[in-house]
Amino acid sequence: MNKSKTIIVSNRLPVKITFNSGQIAYQNSEGGLATGLGSIYRTGNNIWIGWPGAIIEDDMLKEQVSVDLKEKSLFPVFLSDEEINKYYEGFSNETLWPLFHYFPSYARYSEENWESYKAVNQKFADIVLANLKNGDQVWIHDYQLMLVPQMIRSKMQDVSIGFFLHIPFPSFEVFRLLPWRAELIKGVIGADLIGFHTFDDSKYFINSCQRILGLTSINNQLYVNDLPVIVDAFPISIDYVKYNELASNKVLKQHEDNIIRRKGEAKLMISVDRLDYSKGLINRLKAFDQLLSQFPKYKEKVVFVQLVVPSRDTVKQYSELKEEVDRLVSDINARYGTLNWQPIQYFYRSFSIELLSALYKTADIALVTPMRDGMNLVSKEYVASKIDKKGVLVLSEMAGASRELNDAIIINPNDQISYVNALVQALEMPDEEQLRRMTAMQEIVARFNIFHWVKVFMQRLEDAKTLQRRLS
Ligand code: UDP
Ligand code: G6P
Repeated sequence: MNKSKTIIVSNRLPVKITFNSGQIAYQNSEGGLATGLGSIYRTGNNIWIGWPGAIIEDDMLKEQVSVDLKEKSLFPVFLSDEEINKYYEGFSNETLWPLFHYFPSYARYSEENWESYKAVNQKFADIVLANLKNGDQVWIHDYQLMLVPQMIRSKMQDVSIGFFLHIPFPSFEVFRLLPWRAELIKGVIGADLIGFHTFDDSKYFINSCQRILGLTSINNQLYVNDLPVIVDAFPISIDYVKYNELASNKVLKQHEDNIIRRKGEAKLMISVDRLDYSKGLINRLKAFDQLLSQFPKYKEKVVFVQLVVPSRDTVKQYSELKEEVDRLVSDINARYGTLNWQPIQYFYRSFSIELLSALYKTADIALVTPMRDGMNLVSKEYVASKIDKKGVLVLSEMAGASRELNDAIIINPNDQISYVNALVQALEMPDEEQLRRMTAMQEIVARFNIFHWVKVFMQRLEDAKTLQRRLS
Protein backbone atom coordinates (compact mmCIF):
# COMPACT_ATOMS: atom_id res chain seq x y z
CA MET A 1 0.00 0.00 0.00
CA ASN A 2 1.28 3.50 -0.89
CA LYS A 3 1.62 5.32 2.43
CA SER A 4 2.98 8.60 1.04
CA LYS A 5 1.12 11.73 2.08
CA THR A 6 0.71 15.40 1.25
CA ILE A 7 1.59 18.02 3.86
CA ILE A 8 -0.01 21.42 3.40
CA VAL A 9 1.73 24.32 5.09
CA SER A 10 0.30 27.81 5.45
CA ASN A 11 0.56 30.62 7.98
CA ARG A 12 -3.07 30.13 9.04
CA LEU A 13 -4.80 26.81 9.56
CA PRO A 14 -8.26 26.40 8.03
CA VAL A 15 -9.70 26.60 11.56
CA LYS A 16 -9.47 29.42 14.02
CA ILE A 17 -9.41 29.13 17.80
CA THR A 18 -11.88 31.30 19.66
CA PHE A 19 -12.55 31.50 23.38
CA ASN A 20 -16.22 31.23 24.36
CA SER A 21 -16.66 32.31 27.99
CA GLY A 22 -13.24 30.88 28.76
CA GLN A 23 -13.94 27.66 26.83
CA ILE A 24 -11.85 26.86 23.79
CA ALA A 25 -13.81 26.60 20.52
CA TYR A 26 -12.85 25.98 16.90
CA GLN A 27 -14.37 27.89 14.05
CA ASN A 28 -14.09 26.56 10.52
CA SER A 29 -12.74 28.99 8.01
CA GLU A 30 -15.11 29.62 5.10
CA GLY A 31 -12.31 30.65 2.77
CA GLY A 32 -11.90 29.12 -0.66
CA LEU A 33 -8.49 27.73 0.14
CA ALA A 34 -9.76 25.73 3.11
CA THR A 35 -12.58 24.30 0.99
CA GLY A 36 -10.36 23.49 -1.97
CA LEU A 37 -7.53 21.98 -0.02
CA GLY A 38 -10.13 20.20 2.10
CA SER A 39 -10.49 17.94 -0.90
CA ILE A 40 -6.99 16.65 -0.20
CA TYR A 41 -6.05 17.31 3.42
CA ARG A 42 -8.90 15.25 4.80
CA THR A 43 -8.04 12.21 2.69
CA GLY A 44 -5.57 9.42 3.53
CA ASN A 45 -2.92 10.42 6.04
CA ASN A 46 -2.51 13.94 4.66
CA ILE A 47 -2.04 16.77 7.15
CA TRP A 48 -2.10 20.58 7.34
CA ILE A 49 0.44 22.55 9.39
CA GLY A 50 -0.16 26.19 10.41
CA TRP A 51 -0.88 28.80 13.08
CA PRO A 52 -4.25 28.33 14.82
CA GLY A 53 -5.02 32.07 14.86
CA ALA A 54 -4.61 32.80 18.60
CA ILE A 55 -1.66 33.39 20.90
CA ILE A 56 -1.51 30.58 23.44
CA GLU A 57 1.22 30.64 26.09
CA ASP A 58 -0.08 28.02 28.51
CA ASP A 59 1.51 24.58 27.94
CA MET A 60 -1.56 22.61 29.01
CA LEU A 61 -3.75 24.61 26.66
CA LYS A 62 -1.24 24.05 23.85
CA GLU A 63 -1.42 20.33 24.52
CA GLN A 64 -5.22 20.36 24.46
CA VAL A 65 -5.27 22.33 21.18
CA SER A 66 -2.76 19.92 19.61
CA VAL A 67 -4.86 16.91 20.60
CA ASP A 68 -8.13 18.50 19.40
CA LEU A 69 -6.64 19.57 16.08
CA LYS A 70 -4.92 16.26 15.42
CA GLU A 71 -8.37 14.68 15.10
CA LYS A 72 -8.92 16.98 12.11
CA SER A 73 -5.44 16.18 10.66
CA LEU A 74 -4.28 19.67 11.63
CA PHE A 75 -0.94 20.40 13.33
CA PRO A 76 -0.59 23.75 15.09
CA VAL A 77 2.46 25.99 15.00
CA PHE A 78 2.20 28.12 18.16
CA LEU A 79 3.49 31.66 17.81
CA SER A 80 4.40 33.96 20.68
CA ASP A 81 3.35 37.57 21.02
CA GLU A 82 6.80 38.66 19.87
CA GLU A 83 6.74 36.35 16.84
CA ILE A 84 3.32 37.67 15.82
CA ASN A 85 4.64 41.18 16.22
CA LYS A 86 7.86 40.74 14.22
CA TYR A 87 7.26 37.87 11.80
CA TYR A 88 3.53 38.29 11.03
CA GLU A 89 2.68 41.97 11.53
CA GLY A 90 6.26 43.12 10.95
CA PHE A 91 8.05 41.36 8.13
CA SER A 92 5.05 39.68 6.45
CA ASN A 93 2.58 42.54 6.63
CA GLU A 94 4.71 45.67 6.92
CA THR A 95 7.42 44.66 4.44
CA LEU A 96 6.40 41.93 2.00
CA TRP A 97 2.69 42.75 1.72
CA PRO A 98 3.10 46.45 0.79
CA LEU A 99 6.07 45.84 -1.48
CA PHE A 100 4.44 42.98 -3.39
CA HIS A 101 1.26 45.05 -3.79
CA TYR A 102 3.24 47.97 -5.25
CA PHE A 103 3.06 50.21 -2.17
CA PRO A 104 6.83 50.52 -1.65
CA SER A 105 6.47 53.71 0.37
CA TYR A 106 4.56 51.70 3.01
CA ALA A 107 7.31 49.07 3.32
CA ARG A 108 9.47 49.03 6.48
CA TYR A 109 12.87 47.41 6.37
CA SER A 110 13.77 46.09 9.81
CA GLU A 111 16.66 43.70 10.43
CA GLU A 112 14.99 42.56 13.65
CA ASN A 113 11.78 41.61 11.83
CA TRP A 114 13.76 39.80 9.15
CA GLU A 115 15.55 37.76 11.84
CA SER A 116 12.18 36.81 13.29
CA TYR A 117 10.83 35.90 9.82
CA LYS A 118 13.77 33.53 9.33
CA ALA A 119 13.35 31.99 12.77
CA VAL A 120 9.61 31.45 12.38
CA ASN A 121 10.05 29.99 8.88
CA GLN A 122 12.54 27.58 10.47
CA LYS A 123 9.99 26.74 13.15
CA PHE A 124 7.43 25.82 10.47
CA ALA A 125 10.07 23.86 8.51
CA ASP A 126 11.07 21.90 11.63
CA ILE A 127 7.48 20.82 12.25
CA VAL A 128 7.17 19.78 8.60
CA LEU A 129 10.45 17.85 8.82
CA ALA A 130 9.32 16.07 11.98
CA ASN A 131 6.33 14.73 10.03
CA LEU A 132 7.98 14.17 6.66
CA LYS A 133 9.01 10.89 5.03
CA ASN A 134 10.69 10.18 1.71
CA GLY A 135 8.11 9.98 -1.05
CA ASP A 136 5.83 12.60 0.61
CA GLN A 137 4.75 15.82 -1.03
CA VAL A 138 4.82 19.21 0.67
CA TRP A 139 2.73 22.13 -0.54
CA ILE A 140 3.75 25.46 1.02
CA HIS A 141 1.53 28.54 0.74
CA ASP A 142 2.11 32.24 0.53
CA TYR A 143 4.43 35.12 1.34
CA GLN A 144 4.69 34.41 5.06
CA LEU A 145 6.64 31.20 4.35
CA MET A 146 8.95 31.92 1.42
CA LEU A 147 12.04 30.44 3.10
CA VAL A 148 10.42 27.12 4.02
CA PRO A 149 10.94 25.32 0.65
CA GLN A 150 14.75 25.58 0.83
CA MET A 151 14.79 24.85 4.59
CA ILE A 152 13.08 21.53 3.83
CA ARG A 153 15.08 20.83 0.68
CA SER A 154 18.39 21.21 2.53
CA LYS A 155 17.40 18.34 4.81
CA MET A 156 15.35 16.10 2.48
CA GLN A 157 16.63 16.19 -1.12
CA ASP A 158 14.15 13.81 -2.66
CA VAL A 159 10.73 14.97 -1.40
CA SER A 160 8.41 16.84 -3.78
CA ILE A 161 7.97 20.44 -2.77
CA GLY A 162 5.41 22.83 -4.26
CA PHE A 163 5.13 26.52 -3.42
CA PHE A 164 2.21 28.79 -4.27
CA LEU A 165 2.19 32.57 -3.83
CA HIS A 166 -1.32 33.92 -3.20
CA ILE A 167 -0.36 37.57 -3.67
CA PRO A 168 1.21 39.29 -6.71
CA PHE A 169 4.92 38.90 -7.37
CA PRO A 170 6.21 42.39 -8.25
CA SER A 171 8.38 43.38 -11.17
CA PHE A 172 12.17 43.35 -10.61
CA GLU A 173 12.42 47.13 -10.12
CA VAL A 174 10.14 46.86 -7.08
CA PHE A 175 11.42 43.53 -5.76
CA ARG A 176 15.03 44.74 -5.84
CA LEU A 177 14.20 47.33 -3.14
CA LEU A 178 14.15 44.52 -0.59
CA PRO A 179 17.46 44.19 1.29
CA TRP A 180 16.90 40.41 1.65
CA ARG A 181 15.80 39.83 -1.96
CA ALA A 182 18.42 37.15 -2.72
CA GLU A 183 17.71 35.15 0.45
CA LEU A 184 13.97 35.20 -0.23
CA ILE A 185 14.12 33.85 -3.76
CA LYS A 186 16.77 31.33 -2.76
CA GLY A 187 14.22 30.14 -0.22
CA VAL A 188 11.47 29.74 -2.83
CA ILE A 189 13.57 27.91 -5.42
CA GLY A 190 13.99 25.04 -2.98
CA ALA A 191 10.61 23.97 -4.45
CA ASP A 192 10.20 21.77 -7.55
CA LEU A 193 7.11 23.65 -8.68
CA ILE A 194 6.44 27.35 -8.03
CA GLY A 195 2.96 28.68 -8.74
CA PHE A 196 1.52 32.16 -9.16
CA HIS A 197 -1.94 33.45 -10.06
CA THR A 198 -0.96 35.05 -13.35
CA PHE A 199 1.51 34.60 -16.15
CA ASP A 200 2.93 38.09 -15.42
CA ASP A 201 3.70 37.16 -11.80
CA SER A 202 5.58 34.04 -12.91
CA LYS A 203 7.49 36.05 -15.54
CA TYR A 204 8.51 38.65 -12.94
CA PHE A 205 9.68 35.92 -10.59
CA ILE A 206 11.84 34.28 -13.27
CA ASN A 207 13.23 37.68 -14.18
CA SER A 208 14.22 38.41 -10.56
CA CYS A 209 15.93 35.00 -10.32
CA GLN A 210 17.91 35.80 -13.47
CA ARG A 211 18.89 39.30 -12.41
CA ILE A 212 19.56 38.65 -8.74
CA LEU A 213 20.88 35.10 -8.68
CA GLY A 214 22.16 34.86 -12.27
CA LEU A 215 20.07 31.73 -12.89
CA THR A 216 19.33 30.62 -16.44
CA SER A 217 15.85 29.76 -17.65
CA ILE A 218 14.21 28.23 -20.68
CA ASN A 219 10.55 29.16 -21.04
CA ASN A 220 8.99 28.39 -17.67
CA GLN A 221 11.89 26.30 -16.35
CA LEU A 222 14.51 27.78 -14.05
CA TYR A 223 17.77 25.88 -13.75
CA VAL A 224 18.81 25.40 -10.13
CA ASN A 225 21.92 23.23 -9.64
CA ASP A 226 21.46 22.12 -13.26
CA LEU A 227 17.98 20.77 -12.58
CA PRO A 228 14.73 22.33 -13.80
CA VAL A 229 12.36 24.01 -11.37
CA ILE A 230 8.98 24.68 -12.98
CA VAL A 231 7.43 28.15 -12.61
CA ASP A 232 3.88 28.60 -13.84
CA ALA A 233 0.49 30.32 -13.49
CA PHE A 234 -2.34 28.53 -11.66
CA PRO A 235 -5.24 30.97 -11.18
CA ILE A 236 -7.01 30.02 -7.95
CA SER A 237 -10.79 29.82 -7.86
CA ILE A 238 -13.79 28.99 -5.68
CA ASP A 239 -16.20 26.13 -5.05
CA TYR A 240 -18.61 27.27 -7.78
CA VAL A 241 -21.30 24.71 -7.04
CA LYS A 242 -21.35 25.65 -3.34
CA TYR A 243 -22.00 29.34 -4.07
CA ASN A 244 -24.42 28.59 -6.88
CA GLU A 245 -26.46 26.17 -4.76
CA LEU A 246 -26.39 28.43 -1.73
CA ALA A 247 -27.95 31.17 -3.84
CA SER A 248 -30.89 28.86 -4.66
CA ASN A 249 -31.33 27.83 -1.03
CA LYS A 250 -34.54 28.93 0.67
CA VAL A 251 -32.67 29.73 3.93
CA LEU A 252 -31.55 32.95 2.24
CA LYS A 253 -35.08 34.18 1.67
CA GLN A 254 -35.32 36.20 4.88
CA HIS A 255 -31.94 37.88 4.28
CA GLU A 256 -32.89 38.66 0.68
CA ASP A 257 -36.24 40.14 1.72
CA ASN A 258 -34.50 42.35 4.27
CA ILE A 259 -31.98 43.61 1.75
CA ILE A 260 -34.64 44.26 -0.88
CA ARG A 261 -36.89 46.04 1.61
CA ARG A 262 -34.05 48.30 2.73
CA LYS A 263 -32.99 49.33 -0.74
CA GLY A 264 -36.57 49.90 -2.02
CA GLU A 265 -36.65 50.84 -5.70
CA ALA A 266 -32.99 51.82 -5.80
CA LYS A 267 -30.30 49.78 -7.53
CA LEU A 268 -28.02 47.90 -5.18
CA MET A 269 -24.27 48.29 -5.55
CA ILE A 270 -22.01 46.28 -3.25
CA SER A 271 -18.38 45.84 -2.33
CA VAL A 272 -16.85 43.22 -0.02
CA ASP A 273 -13.21 43.47 1.09
CA ARG A 274 -10.89 43.02 4.01
CA LEU A 275 -9.77 46.38 5.38
CA ASP A 276 -6.67 46.80 3.24
CA TYR A 277 -5.07 49.66 1.31
CA SER A 278 -4.56 47.26 -1.61
CA LYS A 279 -8.35 46.93 -2.02
CA GLY A 280 -8.95 50.45 -3.37
CA LEU A 281 -11.52 51.49 -0.76
CA ILE A 282 -10.64 55.18 -0.91
CA ASN A 283 -10.66 55.44 -4.72
CA ARG A 284 -14.00 53.64 -4.73
CA LEU A 285 -15.58 56.06 -2.27
CA LYS A 286 -14.23 58.99 -4.27
CA ALA A 287 -15.65 57.58 -7.50
CA PHE A 288 -19.04 57.07 -5.84
CA ASP A 289 -18.92 60.62 -4.53
CA GLN A 290 -18.18 61.91 -8.01
CA LEU A 291 -20.99 59.82 -9.52
CA LEU A 292 -23.49 61.52 -7.22
CA SER A 293 -22.12 65.00 -7.80
CA GLN A 294 -21.76 64.67 -11.58
CA PHE A 295 -25.01 62.75 -12.13
CA PRO A 296 -27.53 63.99 -9.54
CA LYS A 297 -30.22 61.89 -11.27
CA TYR A 298 -28.82 58.87 -9.39
CA LYS A 299 -29.62 60.38 -6.00
CA GLU A 300 -32.09 58.07 -4.23
CA LYS A 301 -31.72 55.66 -7.20
CA VAL A 302 -28.68 53.78 -5.95
CA VAL A 303 -27.65 52.32 -2.59
CA PHE A 304 -24.06 51.31 -2.01
CA VAL A 305 -23.61 48.55 0.59
CA GLN A 306 -19.97 48.50 1.59
CA LEU A 307 -18.81 45.55 3.68
CA VAL A 308 -15.35 45.93 5.16
CA VAL A 309 -13.99 42.96 7.09
CA PRO A 310 -11.63 43.94 9.95
CA SER A 311 -8.04 42.90 9.26
CA ARG A 312 -4.53 43.46 10.67
CA ASP A 313 -5.71 46.46 12.65
CA THR A 314 -2.58 46.46 14.82
CA VAL A 315 -0.59 47.59 11.77
CA LYS A 316 -0.46 51.41 11.48
CA GLN A 317 -1.49 51.73 7.82
CA TYR A 318 -4.57 49.61 8.46
CA SER A 319 -5.81 51.61 11.44
CA GLU A 320 -5.19 54.85 9.54
CA LEU A 321 -7.12 53.50 6.56
CA LYS A 322 -10.03 52.63 8.82
CA GLU A 323 -10.19 56.23 10.03
CA GLU A 324 -10.13 57.56 6.49
CA VAL A 325 -12.87 55.19 5.30
CA ASP A 326 -15.06 56.14 8.29
CA ARG A 327 -14.54 59.81 7.55
CA LEU A 328 -15.31 59.55 3.82
CA VAL A 329 -18.40 57.41 4.33
CA SER A 330 -19.93 59.78 6.86
CA ASP A 331 -19.00 62.76 4.73
CA ILE A 332 -20.72 61.31 1.64
CA ASN A 333 -23.77 60.25 3.65
CA ALA A 334 -24.02 63.66 5.27
CA ARG A 335 -23.65 65.58 2.00
CA TYR A 336 -26.03 63.55 -0.20
CA GLY A 337 -28.35 61.69 2.20
CA THR A 338 -32.02 62.60 2.45
CA LEU A 339 -34.68 61.70 4.98
CA ASN A 340 -35.57 58.70 2.79
CA TRP A 341 -32.17 57.65 1.58
CA GLN A 342 -28.71 56.91 2.90
CA PRO A 343 -26.31 56.55 -0.06
CA ILE A 344 -23.81 54.24 1.68
CA GLN A 345 -24.64 51.49 4.13
CA TYR A 346 -21.32 50.67 5.70
CA PHE A 347 -20.58 47.54 7.74
CA TYR A 348 -17.26 47.02 9.50
CA ARG A 349 -17.45 43.34 10.50
CA SER A 350 -17.74 39.86 8.99
CA PHE A 351 -20.91 38.48 7.50
CA SER A 352 -22.05 34.86 7.65
CA ILE A 353 -21.75 33.05 4.35
CA GLU A 354 -25.57 33.03 4.10
CA LEU A 355 -25.83 36.79 4.47
CA LEU A 356 -22.93 37.26 2.06
CA SER A 357 -24.60 35.00 -0.46
CA ALA A 358 -27.90 36.92 -0.16
CA LEU A 359 -25.99 40.14 -0.73
CA TYR A 360 -24.26 38.76 -3.84
CA LYS A 361 -27.52 37.39 -5.15
CA THR A 362 -29.54 40.59 -4.76
CA ALA A 363 -26.85 43.07 -5.83
CA ASP A 364 -27.31 44.69 -9.24
CA ILE A 365 -23.66 45.68 -9.33
CA ALA A 366 -20.51 44.46 -7.55
CA LEU A 367 -17.50 46.76 -7.34
CA VAL A 368 -14.27 44.77 -7.09
CA THR A 369 -11.73 47.48 -7.70
CA PRO A 370 -8.44 46.83 -5.90
CA MET A 371 -5.31 48.87 -6.51
CA ARG A 372 -3.61 45.46 -6.68
CA ASP A 373 -4.78 41.95 -5.84
CA GLY A 374 -3.28 38.50 -6.40
CA MET A 375 -6.59 37.04 -7.60
CA ASN A 376 -9.67 38.28 -5.68
CA LEU A 377 -12.17 35.57 -4.85
CA VAL A 378 -15.06 37.94 -4.10
CA SER A 379 -15.39 38.64 -7.84
CA LYS A 380 -15.79 34.92 -8.55
CA GLU A 381 -18.18 34.36 -5.63
CA TYR A 382 -20.40 37.16 -6.96
CA VAL A 383 -20.47 35.59 -10.43
CA ALA A 384 -21.28 32.13 -9.01
CA SER A 385 -24.17 33.54 -6.94
CA LYS A 386 -26.06 35.15 -9.85
CA ILE A 387 -28.50 32.34 -10.50
CA ASP A 388 -30.73 34.54 -12.68
CA LYS A 389 -27.57 35.51 -14.63
CA LYS A 390 -28.26 39.20 -14.15
CA GLY A 391 -25.89 41.60 -12.45
CA VAL A 392 -22.81 43.57 -13.45
CA LEU A 393 -19.27 43.13 -12.23
CA VAL A 394 -17.00 46.19 -12.29
CA LEU A 395 -13.49 44.78 -11.96
CA SER A 396 -10.07 46.37 -11.62
CA GLU A 397 -7.48 45.42 -14.20
CA MET A 398 -5.04 45.19 -11.25
CA ALA A 399 -6.80 42.08 -9.88
CA GLY A 400 -5.57 38.69 -11.09
CA ALA A 401 -9.24 37.81 -11.74
CA SER A 402 -9.38 40.33 -14.59
CA ARG A 403 -7.33 37.94 -16.77
CA GLU A 404 -10.15 35.41 -16.68
CA LEU A 405 -13.27 37.55 -16.15
CA ASN A 406 -12.89 39.75 -19.18
CA ASP A 407 -16.66 40.09 -19.59
CA ALA A 408 -16.69 42.31 -16.52
CA ILE A 409 -16.44 46.08 -17.00
CA ILE A 410 -12.71 46.41 -16.56
CA ILE A 411 -11.35 49.63 -15.06
CA ASN A 412 -8.15 51.20 -13.82
CA PRO A 413 -9.03 52.37 -10.29
CA ASN A 414 -6.62 55.33 -10.59
CA ASP A 415 -8.56 56.69 -13.54
CA GLN A 416 -11.48 58.37 -11.81
CA ILE A 417 -13.16 59.58 -15.00
CA SER A 418 -13.33 56.08 -16.49
CA TYR A 419 -14.32 54.70 -13.09
CA VAL A 420 -17.37 56.99 -12.94
CA ASN A 421 -18.22 56.18 -16.57
CA ALA A 422 -18.04 52.48 -15.69
CA LEU A 423 -20.48 53.04 -12.82
CA VAL A 424 -22.89 54.75 -15.21
CA GLN A 425 -22.44 51.93 -17.75
CA ALA A 426 -23.17 49.38 -15.00
CA LEU A 427 -26.26 51.25 -13.79
CA GLU A 428 -27.61 51.51 -17.33
CA MET A 429 -26.63 48.11 -18.74
CA PRO A 430 -29.55 46.43 -20.55
CA ASP A 431 -30.67 43.01 -19.24
CA GLU A 432 -29.62 41.16 -22.42
CA GLU A 433 -26.08 42.47 -22.14
CA GLN A 434 -25.92 41.54 -18.44
CA LEU A 435 -27.12 38.06 -19.30
CA ARG A 436 -24.57 37.61 -22.05
CA ARG A 437 -21.64 38.80 -19.95
CA MET A 438 -22.67 36.90 -16.81
CA THR A 439 -23.22 33.64 -18.71
CA ALA A 440 -19.71 33.85 -20.18
CA MET A 441 -18.15 34.56 -16.78
CA GLN A 442 -20.09 31.77 -15.09
CA GLU A 443 -18.84 29.25 -17.62
CA ILE A 444 -15.26 30.17 -16.77
CA VAL A 445 -15.70 30.12 -12.98
CA ALA A 446 -17.69 26.87 -13.07
CA ARG A 447 -15.08 25.13 -15.19
CA PHE A 448 -11.88 26.42 -13.61
CA ASN A 449 -13.04 25.91 -10.03
CA ILE A 450 -11.03 25.31 -6.85
CA PHE A 451 -11.03 21.52 -7.28
CA HIS A 452 -9.61 21.93 -10.77
CA TRP A 453 -6.92 24.22 -9.32
CA VAL A 454 -5.84 21.68 -6.68
CA LYS A 455 -5.88 18.83 -9.18
CA VAL A 456 -3.82 20.63 -11.79
CA PHE A 457 -1.24 21.87 -9.25
CA MET A 458 -0.79 18.42 -7.70
CA GLN A 459 -0.49 16.80 -11.13
CA ARG A 460 2.12 19.35 -12.24
CA LEU A 461 4.05 18.78 -9.03
CA GLU A 462 4.21 15.09 -9.76
CA ASP A 463 5.30 15.78 -13.36
CA ALA A 464 7.98 18.24 -12.16
CA LYS A 465 9.43 15.65 -9.79
CA THR A 466 9.37 12.92 -12.45
CA LEU A 467 11.25 15.21 -14.83
CA GLN A 468 13.87 16.05 -12.19
CA ARG A 469 14.41 12.40 -11.30
CA ARG A 470 14.85 11.55 -14.98
CA LEU A 471 17.50 14.26 -15.41
CA SER A 472 19.42 13.75 -12.18
N1 UDP B 1 -15.29 36.79 3.36
C1 UDP B 1 -15.45 36.30 4.63
N2 UDP B 1 -16.24 36.99 5.50
C2 UDP B 1 -16.85 38.14 5.18
C3 UDP B 1 -16.65 38.65 3.89
C4 UDP B 1 -15.86 37.95 3.01
O1 UDP B 1 -14.90 35.23 4.95
O2 UDP B 1 -17.55 38.73 6.01
C5 UDP B 1 -14.47 35.99 2.42
C6 UDP B 1 -14.92 36.09 1.00
O3 UDP B 1 -16.07 35.29 0.83
C7 UDP B 1 -13.68 35.61 0.25
C8 UDP B 1 -12.54 36.03 1.16
O4 UDP B 1 -13.14 36.46 2.39
O5 UDP B 1 -13.68 34.20 0.11
C9 UDP B 1 -11.72 37.17 0.59
O6 UDP B 1 -10.88 36.67 -0.41
P1 UDP B 1 -10.27 37.61 -1.53
O7 UDP B 1 -9.48 36.75 -2.45
O8 UDP B 1 -11.34 38.40 -2.20
O9 UDP B 1 -9.34 38.64 -0.75
P2 UDP B 1 -8.24 38.45 0.41
O10 UDP B 1 -8.95 38.83 1.67
O11 UDP B 1 -7.78 37.03 0.37
O12 UDP B 1 -7.18 39.45 0.09
C1 G6P C 1 -4.60 37.11 1.88
C2 G6P C 1 -3.30 36.34 2.02
C3 G6P C 1 -3.48 35.16 2.99
C4 G6P C 1 -4.05 35.65 4.31
C5 G6P C 1 -5.35 36.43 4.06
C6 G6P C 1 -5.94 37.01 5.34
O1 G6P C 1 -5.53 36.32 1.26
O2 G6P C 1 -2.87 35.89 0.75
O3 G6P C 1 -2.24 34.51 3.21
O4 G6P C 1 -4.27 34.57 5.19
O5 G6P C 1 -5.10 37.50 3.16
O6 G6P C 1 -4.98 37.77 6.03
P1 G6P C 1 -4.47 37.41 7.50
O7 G6P C 1 -3.32 38.32 7.72
O8 G6P C 1 -5.65 37.69 8.38
O9 G6P C 1 -4.09 35.95 7.52
